[in-house]
Amino acid sequence: AAVSAAVQKGLLGFEAISTNRFDTVTVPAGYSAKPFLPWGTPLLPNAAAYKGDGSNTAAEQAMQIGSHHDGMHFFPIDLKQGGQNSEEGLLVMNHEYCDPKILHGAVEEILPRPASQVHKELAAHGVSVAHIKKQPDGQWQLVQESQYNRRITGMTPMELTGPVRGNAKVQTQYSPEGIATRGTLNNCAHGVTPWGTYLTCEENWALLFVNRDTRMPREHRRYSVSEEHSIMYWETAAREDAVLQRFDASSIADSATADFRNEPNTFGWIVEIDPFNPQSMPVKHTAMGRFAHEGIIFAKAEVGKPLVAYSGDDSRFEYIYKFVSAELYDPATAGPHLLDSGTLYAARFNDDGSGEWLPLDINSADFKAKAAAAKVEFTDQADVLLNTRLAADIAGATKMDRPEWGAVHPETGEVYFTLTNNSQRHNSQLNPANPRSNNTQGHIIRWREASITRFDWDIFLLSGEAYTYTPHHQFMLTEENHHASPDGLWFDPNGLLWIQTDMSGGQLREGTFGNNQMLVADVGSHQIKRFLVGPIGCEVTGVVMTPDCRTMFVNIQHPGEGSGPYSFSSTWPDRGTRRPRSATVVITKDDGGLIGS
Ligand code: FEO
Ligand code: CA
Ligand code: CA
Ligand code: CA
Repeated sequence: AAVSAAVQKGLLGFEAISTNRFDTVTVPAGYSAKPFLPWGTPLLPNAAAYKGDGSNTAAEQAMQIGSHHDGMHFFPIDLKQGGQNSEEGLLVMNHEYCDPKILHGAVEEILPRPASQVHKELAAHGVSVAHIKKQPDGQWQLVQESQYNRRITGMTPMELTGPVRGNAKVQTQYSPEGIATRGTLNNCAHGVTPWGTYLTCEENWALLFVNRDTRMPREHRRYSVSEEHSIMYWETAAREDAVLQRFDASSIADSATADFRNEPNTFGWIVEIDPFNPQSMPVKHTAMGRFAHEGIIFAKAEVGKPLVAYSGDDSRFEYIYKFVSAELYDPATAGPHLLDSGTLYAARFNDDGSGEWLPLDINSADFKAKAAAAKVEFTDQADVLLNTRLAADIAGATKMDRPEWGAVHPETGEVYFTLTNNSQRHNSQLNPANPRSNNTQGHIIRWREASITRFDWDIFLLSGEAYTYTPHHQFMLTEENHHASPDGLWFDPNGLLWIQTDMSGGQLREGTFGNNQMLVADVGSHQIKRFLVGPIGCEVTGVVMTPDCRTMFVNIQHPGEGSGPYSFSSTWPDRGTRRPRSATVVITKDDGGLIGS
């Protein structure tokens, strides 16, 4: 295989590390990894100190770093002036969910849930904006008292924009006009707009709502809103605090005045946050579709062309989507409006290696004919968007093995996407894009756009144990790079592809993979090396570098998951007998060199 420019620069020169099950972050010789901004770190001015016994209150949590760190981006502090500062910036990260056994001092598994705990859980979700700065000694620190430090939680007011704004299906007690909602929940991966804002993506929000109606509406049922109780039982705390009734979307809930049928319809969107404007209200952009958005990744923005972004729906047999803006990109005028009108497409991966983007557009004759043939009615484009999954079914998109993160190669523009696993795919459901039954190990697909509606694809990598073979590239995994359940994916500015894993259950406990890990690939030469192994029970998710590629930030989510409440299988990063905390790690090379060299 060709030696790429990245390898010529001395990248991928480090010695790959082995798998392990240590309760620490392991990186190659010559590198250091230091925990940073763990859950509970005081973030806002006058925030309370982290108490190690889970006794911080909901109000205190709302001023501290949230839990379950996930997607993340570093915005250089001088970005708006065109700068590339690598020593000071805004680190913005998602807090996907929380583990009550770790979050609270003690959890008694009785119902109804105490409202105080539910409010703390809502405050542990969302997004943190942290102003950080490298100190003269080389250590990164939070800039205390910075005006930029901000928490966004499951209760923060947000605006709805795009075709669904004002629609009857998003009118709620909170916003009778259907133009606003409260909070963002289960934010997994993220995106970054060409105008320097952060996008956070709502993934498993449906599990947080219940609807006990015998005829649940399609915009709830297709997304697996629960029929019995929400996964966190938040709605049970409504007896103590009426605001929590919003998690019960049944048409006849406990209270005579309750009507929260449309609350779930205000979730499942892409949410924009301007980290440089702490007073700005986050915006949910409905034109980009409603599903279990894992993340959102933009193709390189080109002047005079539409803006293009990709998003995966992380659920078994769901789809990969593309949004193409109606307006053309111009850096002088680019802004949130570009995300409010455009065409949403779903991907069909044909057996011959070609692919098609199928419009989910009520004005498309092709889509209208397919809907009529399927006897499905949509009243308008808002109805299509509220039911994006159904629209993609009708269009004939390809059901994938749980699409997670995407990444766009900075030079070639090729798009890579992780398909993390799908243990429920049977032999009768195989296709060349999802070629393995009982796919417990996952794969990475990639494509190159041929036009707005056409592409060509292949499988970049089949994940698995050593000797797993990817035929198209005549590539075989070895002890240096075997792994399963690829999830996080990111191209650094040098064109190296970073791959993070989210194995769970038996894959973590036994076998050859060890703890979750991060690998790095040179896609030109198909060299792949293991760079990091996380602590016990964690997922490794979220990665970004400073523009100079000399500091890397990686998120370690839920170390010790599955243990507790009184003994934890992980005590990372605090050690001793302390409870585990999700945290960022700051990775540097001891000689100050490029990360990955
Ligand atoms: Fe939150 Fe699909 O990972
Ligand atoms: Ca993920
Ligand atoms: Ca995952
Ligand atoms: Ca996780």
